[in-house]
Amino acid sequence: MQSHGGLLPLGGPSSSLSFSRRLRSQLTLASFHASKASTRPRSLLLPVASAAFTVSDGELETRGFRVRRSSDDLDVAALNDVFARVGFPRRDPDRLRRALGHGSVVWVEEAKRGGGPGKPVAFARATGDGVFNAVVWDVVVEPSLQGMGLGRAVMERLVAELRHKGVSNIALYAEPRVVGFYRPLGFAADPDGIKGMVYSRKNQKKI
Ligand SMILES: CC(C)(COP(=O)(O)OP(=O)(O)OC[C@H]1O[C@@H](n2cnc3c(N)ncnc32)[C@H](O)[C@@H]1OP(=O)(O)O)[C@@H](O)C(=O)NCCC(=O)NCCS
Repeated sequence: MQSHGGLLPLGGPSSSLSFSRRLRSQLTLASFHASKASTRPRSLLLPVASAAFTVSDGELETRGFRVRRSSDDLDVAALNDVFARVGFPRRDPDRLRRALGHGSVVWVEEAKRGGGPGKPVAFARATGDGVFNAVVWDVVVEPSLQGMGLGRAVMERLVAELRHKGVSNIALYAEPRVVGFYRPLGFAADPDGIKGMVYSRKNQKKI
């Protein structure tokens, strides 16, 4: 495990997670319904900047990490490296850059000595209509830094940003082995019996 200024786990035990490349075959739809997850009226939701995160941006900074909320200077090659290290496919860099231009992005960079943009070590993004609905994608943490709270840190901030915009229907596709990661963040599998369905070309009749 890399050293980050004596970094301790950011809440929760360390875990070394393995995972499957088979994202499509065993997906579970998890939805976050803001209206059900919180009894607070929407108008009382805290602004993103002061939302109560498990670990504050300031605390992360003291541990050598900086939270970023724009993809403008995100190093997509370095993000692709993280994708590859967790078993996700690498994406075409230009298309990935274009995709990141749509929706919300939260990532954590390893603060670099002397400033300048550091490498992404944790990442999550969401796409949607910006008003009602959003879907979370590409939640990843650099393997050597998993189990320190960075995954939760990016997810808490992504959800807070969406809720701040008033987006109340937030969904994601989770591999079975990570359902337990999303549940404490407010996501439920099959709420009200709702099933996720994914378009599959395999099931299409050839025309
Ligand atoms: C899943 C992933 C994003 C979690 O990030 P992380 O930084 O390791 O997780 P955190 O340290 O923030 O964990 C927060 C909490 O979730 C728990 N948790 C983490 N991964 C878990 C898992 N797979 N199953 C159940 N609980 C999990 C932690 O123990 C911790 O619990 P605690 O609050 O009781 O201490 C990361 O392991 C990863 O990148 N995995 C590979 C890519 C992947 O599978 N992404 C999800 C695709 S659907």
